[in-house]
Amino acid sequence: MSLTVALSKGKLLAGTQELFGRAGLPFPDGESRRLVVSLGELRFLFVKDMDVPTYVEYGVADCGIAGRDVLLEAESDVFEPLDLGFGRCRLVVARPAGAHFAPDGSSTVRVATKYPKVAAGHFLGRGLSVEVVRLAGSVEIAPGLGLADCIVDVVETGRTLRENDLEEVEDVAESSARLVVNRASFHAQRTELSSLVEALRRAV
Ligand code: PRP
Repeated sequence: MSLTVALSKGKLLAGTQELFGRAGLPFPDGESRRLVVSLGELRFLFVKDMDVPTYVEYGVADCGIAGRDVLLEAESDVFEPLDLGFGRCRLVVARPAGAHFAPDGSSTVRVATKYPKVAAGHFLGRGLSVEVVRLAGSVEIAPGLGLADCIVDVVETGRTLRENDLEEVEDVAESSARLVVNRASFHAQRTELSSLVEALRRAV
C-alpha cells in the first residue's frame, strides 16, 4: 500500500529533498511543475506551506512536512512524531527600529502578520488589546507605511528585518520542520508509516 506525502513548495523544499536523499527515499526532480507526483510507493503533493496541515488532517495525505510556525497557526488535529531539525527559524514581534512602541494596555496594538491566530494569542496572553491585520506576505513593510504598529513574522537570518528598518522586540515561538501524520492513517497504515518515520529519524 502506498503513502501520500504533502510537502511545501516553499522554503522547506530544499531541506526536505536533502533529508529524503539522506534517508534513501525517492524524491521528484526539481524540473517538473507537476503538483502530484508518484514515485514507487510514495505519492507527493506539492502545496502551499499553510495548506500542508489541512491535507494531512483531512486524510488526503497520510503525512506531511510543515514548519512548527505553520502548525501553531493551523491548529490542526494531527500527530507530530518527529522534529526534522532543518528550517530553523523564530516567530518574533518586530517594530520600526528606534520606535517608542511599548504596549501598556492603554491602547489597542495593531499587528500585521501571516499568523493571525498566533499573533492574537501572543498579545491577548499578555493582557493586551490587539487588532490583527492579516497579510499574505511582505509584512515587513506594513509598519513603515502606517498599516500597523508592529509585525509578527518569521526571522531566519534577520536580514529582511534589518533591510526594512525593523528590530525584534519579543520572541513568540521557535520553529523547525516537523513530520505530521494523519491520525487515522497512523493506525490504518502503521507498517508503512513506521518505516517512513524510522528512515527519516535515522537521517535527521
Ligand atoms: C520569510 C519571512 C520573512 C523572511 C525572513 O518570508 O516572512 O519575510 O522570510 O527571512 P530572513 O530573516 O532570513 O530575512 P518569505 O521568503 O517566506 O516571503 P513572504 O514574506 O512573501 O512570505
